[in-house]
Amino acid sequence: MQRPKRVTVAEMGPRDGLQNEHELVPTETKIAFIDMLSESGLPIVEATSFVSPKAIPQLADGAEVYAAIRKRPGVRYPVLVPNMRGYERARAVDVREIAVFTAASERFTERNIRMSIAESIETFREVVRHAKADGLRVRGYVSTAFGSPFGDEVPPKNVVDVAVALADLGCDEISIGDTIGVGVPSQVEELVPMLARRIPLERLAMHFHDTRGTALANVYAALGCGISIFDSSSGGLGGCPYAPGATGNLGTEDLLYLLHAMGIETGVDLDRVRAASRFIARELGHALTSKAYTAMEARDAISAS
Ligand code: COA
Ligand code: ZN
Repeated sequence: MQRPKRVTVAEMGPRDGLQNEHELVPTETKIAFIDMLSESGLPIVEATSFVSPKAIPQLADGAEVYAAIRKRPGVRYPVLVPNMRGYERARAVDVREIAVFTAASERFTERNIRMSIAESIETFREVVRHAKADGLRVRGYVSTAFGSPFGDEVPPKNVVDVAVALADLGCDEISIGDTIGVGVPSQVEELVPMLARRIPLERLAMHFHDTRGTALANVYAALGCGISIFDSSSGGLGGCPYAPGATGNLGTEDLLYLLHAMGIETGVDLDRVRAASRFIARELGHALTSKAYTAMEARDAISAS
């Protein structure tokens, strides 16, 4: 299998990242952050979610955020939608792409969206049917694909079954998530070919968290299996509020550094992503975890002094 020459990077910071911040981030800050990310050339910026504000208070302002961001032509701005209520809220601000989300672990799905996996698929059936009829694009997430925070086993076959169910509903792209950052390359090399036998490779994305430092190793393994879409988060913001200890999405800077240095194109300006990360770090008042971001900031501080 040849590694892809070009990769699509899906930015998760404004949603997967910010939903994990304890302090409420002002709406204006979110809008400015998304606009900066858009300017970097990122082709996908997940903007917010339309879930229950009781479940995720941080993103209760999803409608205001979505309505105000500058929609750069050619950039996709998916929003997370858990049910028809969320779909209607998203449609009210003329969203063009939604993302539905379930998981490969029953226990996690129950905690996260209070449904069984089968119930979640049934809920999304109606959501995706409406979305397709309205001409929207749909992303589907399979969380906890490499392990669950609640200790239940997640065999690769379960991941494939859930991914295929989402593809059959009509999801255009399926993102396979290592929500708690436990996966290793040998698991990636086992899972991706199993998925690719059922779903075209170009519809598959991988979503790694760097909780145990294995995210880039997993990216490398996935590239070797022909995956060309990766989710990552500016500065490495993120985690999952329903997955204890699931710190840090793979940093967009880390991903871009690796890809560009390997000669794989993304069309994204790494310095502009750094500028967005620098902005949000200042607003949040804490350091970011991306190693490439941290190293490049330190290098620039030295050469400026
Ligand atoms: N937008 C806004 N409000 C919503 C909503 C939506 N999409 N879906 C449900 N609600 C409201 C209901 O109106 C109800 O409000 P009320 O208590 O004032 O009457 C309340 O939320 C509970 O609704 P219910 O349908 O009983 O949902 P639930 O309590 O079973 O929760 C979900 C199910 C899916 C709505 C909720 O668990 C959720 O939003 N989870 C998202 C978690 C998430 O985003 N995780 C991060 C991604 S990994
Ligand atoms: Zn995630």
